[in-house]
Amino acid sequence: MEHRQWVELYAMCPKPIQWLASILLKVVPTMRTGRGMLKELYRLHPQVGVEIGISTGVNALTMLKMFSLSRLFLVDPYQFYKGIDKRGAWKHARQCAAKSLEPYNVTFIFKQASEAVDEIPNNLDFVYIDGNHNYEFVKQDIANYYPKVREGGLLGGHDYIPLHPGVIKAVNEFGLPVHCGTEGDWWFVKEG
Ligand SMILES: C[S@@+](CC[C@H](N)C(=O)[O-])C[C@H]1O[C@@H](n2cnc3c(N)ncnc32)[C@H](O)[C@@H]1O
Repeated sequence: MEHRQWVELYAMCPKPIQWLASILLKVVPTMRTGRGMLKELYRLHPQVGVEIGISTGVNALTMLKMFSLSRLFLVDPYQFYKGIDKRGAWKHARQCAAKSLEPYNVTFIFKQASEAVDEIPNNLDFVYIDGNHNYEFVKQDIANYYPKVREGGLLGGHDYIPLHPGVIKAVNEFGLPVHCGTEGDWWFVKEG
């Protein structure tokens, strides 16, 4: 069964079953096989990319270790945003990211993704969207960053799962074939 069908099945389940499934996804090691888009990207030998939403830098560090990137742009305003960070944990997250990513050629842009577009070059190998998961933001991030990706490159992100209906809606509405992989990853291949 494809990921998309799992998502539809999950959406039809009662809430307690959904919560149980989310917990299982977090604790069963064999279900944590790595993010699907990264596995796909690996085959493209990416050089330059962007991650929207850095947090503590865990995924950025994974990408930097996995790929031989000449440059990685990292966009995150590290500000409170409704429903996601109620405790100001973003301050700690920013320090963690700065420390763990220090050895690498990364460019931090401490802005909302929508305000950082002009600082990002064209012809990117990939953009990974994992910032604000609300519908309007994901929709805007896709629209703003898709033109930045080179032909054959990937634009995708995290959390194409029923717990984030805004992600699913915005991704589906963009109208390109959606590829799905492990850990809720989704991506489009840039068309020529
Ligand atoms: C789920 S976390 C990112 C996790 C990270 N990608 C990882 O997997 O290691 C979401 C991050 O998005 C950031 N964020 C929220 N709104 C944003 C926006 N409009 N543009 C860019 N980043 C945003 C938050 O500050 C937070 O650090």
